[in-house]
Amino acid sequence: MSSSDQIQSVLKEDRVFAPNPDFAAKAHVKSAAEREAMTKAAAEDPEKFWAEIAGELHWFEPWKKVLNWKAPFAEWFVGGKTNIAYNCIDRHCETSRRNKAAIIWEGEPGDSRVLTFADLQREVSRFSNVLKALGVEKGDRVGVYMPMIPELAITILACARIGATHSVVFGGFSSDALRDRMNDAEAKVVVTADGGYRRGGVVDLKVNVDTAVDECPTVKSVVVVQRTGQDVTMKAGRDVWWHEKMAEASDVCPAEPLDAEHPLFILYTSGTTGKPKGVVHTTGGYMVHTYATSRWVFDLKDEDTYFCTADIGWVTGHSYLVYGILANGATSVMYEGAPNYPKPDRLWQIIDKYGVSIFYTAPTAIRSFVKWGNEWPRKYRFDRLRLLGTVGEPINPEAWIWYNREIGHERCPIVDTWWQTETGGILVTPFPGATPTKPGSATLPIPGLDMEVVDKNGVKVGANKGGFLIIRKPWPGMMRTIYKDPERFKEQYWSQVEGAYFTGDGARQDEDGYFWIMGRIDDVVNVSGHRLGTMEVESALVSHNTVAEAAVVGRPDEITGQAIEAFVSLESGNNPSDELAEELRQHVGKEIGSFAKPAKIRFADALPKTRSGKIMRRLLRDIASGSETVGDTTTLEDLSVLAALRDDDE
Ligand code: WT7
Repeated sequence: MSSSDQIQSVLKEDRVFAPNPDFAAKAHVKSAAEREAMTKAAAEDPEKFWAEIAGELHWFEPWKKVLNWKAPFAEWFVGGKTNIAYNCIDRHCETSRRNKAAIIWEGEPGDSRVLTFADLQREVSRFSNVLKALGVEKGDRVGVYMPMIPELAITILACARIGATHSVVFGGFSSDALRDRMNDAEAKVVVTADGGYRRGGVVDLKVNVDTAVDECPTVKSVVVVQRTGQDVTMKAGRDVWWHEKMAEASDVCPAEPLDAEHPLFILYTSGTTGKPKGVVHTTGGYMVHTYATSRWVFDLKDEDTYFCTADIGWVTGHSYLVYGILANGATSVMYEGAPNYPKPDRLWQIIDKYGVSIFYTAPTAIRSFVKWGNEWPRKYRFDRLRLLGTVGEPINPEAWIWYNREIGHERCPIVDTWWQTETGGILVTPFPGATPTKPGSATLPIPGLDMEVVDKNGVKVGANKGGFLIIRKPWPGMMRTIYKDPERFKEQYWSQVEGAYFTGDGARQDEDGYFWIMGRIDDVVNVSGHRLGTMEVESALVSHNTVAEAAVVGRPDEITGQAIEAFVSLESGNNPSDELAEELRQHVGKEIGSFAKPAKIRFADALPKTRSGKIMRRLLRDIASGSETVGDTTTLEDLSVLAALRDDDE
């Protein structure tokens, strides 16, 4: 592992922000002492701790055992029967929340829709019946490739209601990426839309689905929401319109009592090999984890209006736009489009218009807001805003301070939340009324979490020493396996450090026990808060007929955190040119999706390799970052290769 040079901590940040006393007085968790007491209780008896929280939710049948742990496989609330859609919707329909807004949606063109919990119950039940009529049964997989419209939330909740396992593929992925995921999941149905609006243009979702599904033998039906009204081809016997099927369907469909370990969803994420991993999450533990963390971290109250800017195509949208938030009976704002369309004030306008009180976004977005200028947020009323959050990557202190001043008006606590697709929910975070914050640190693990920073032998390192971030005991929302590949799950996550879950992140713990995340230590880049396996981008490049070899690395980027740079050597007979570089970028866009296009392509006659033939990415990273000193080159096979690459840079 070429990690030693990456996990030296250089960040020095001494500012501490104590919780606002007015906020603390009304918070669910009111003081550091209260959080400590929770942490102590959870450490002494984690099963009792989690069982008490689970008891706040609806179970058709109680569990017989809280935890069954045969490392690395966990089962939570064993024998219990529940339904997360019931807990997100039906439970609230029996209370005064029945006619409260569950989802407030704003489309990019400016249209808007409000769904109460009762509306959601009818719509979700209707779509559950549509899925059943298409032959979807408990345990079947349903693929979802949609714009950020209410039907997306309705679709995943309908799957959850009948026990179908959803697999959402972010609408920015290409048809090839969609095809591979649908084939791995063996999806029976794909739900999509004619198209979606993005920055004033239209994304041709149905066209991509047609290309993908032609090569997906398991997919029997495609349900199409009419969103843009653009022309699409409807394949007879396969494609059906959402609105036609919904009009025929009954709005009554009782939620299916499901085993706590019934698979709720598969979400594909990047790893160090070219093959995406289907991260499997199940029902009961995930529900309890996202419910509890939404309450502690976002301090949700009945009068709140909560706005998460993530797309449901990523785990943040699953856990903290839909499930955890609705499980608390809170109102969730959902926005379809780009944050700077038609102007860079769109999100601020939404906060003002709907009286948003809690706002959750990514550092990469905040850096864009900074760049766009203070005049945009300053035009709007933020008087109802009381809490801000971030997720996806470390937040640099400058962005943190800007967020606090320009959006929080120095009145709103900021919760920097660390977690992963694999963890299901937030694991390291401040509690806004209880935890003093330090800009750039996600602070402390949630109660019941046994987290450490260790060296490569699994030995805990001292304060302020960098190391690997690991977790020693299971937690309710943890991924259960990689779909159809339990061996890979074991190997990738549970064998780096004996008996512990390996996050893949480097971190240090300061003298107060606060965690500072130092980024990924494997060959994964974090672009705009989303992990991309460099291998996947390399495979895409090499699949182009001119490319002999490719190495992809991340380099720091002011806005996106990291940007992708690709070093490419060509098959003989091909010559480097700007046109070819652009063609290769487009090719990656086609293979994976636009967001994965390299920011820069560097042509090279040869790539730097060790004597055993391994590409020395560490050196390429140094070059891509424009770093003056390139690290240790003694294992390099041919030094002249490096010299050629550097000359090229000048
Ligand atoms: C990786 C997980 C969790 C939803 C979004 C990304 C990085 C995430 C933070 C944070 C520092 C963070 C880590 C992690 N990360 N949140 N608050 N501070 N780093 O999900 O695509 O599964 O990526 O994002 O490196 O391992 P993901």
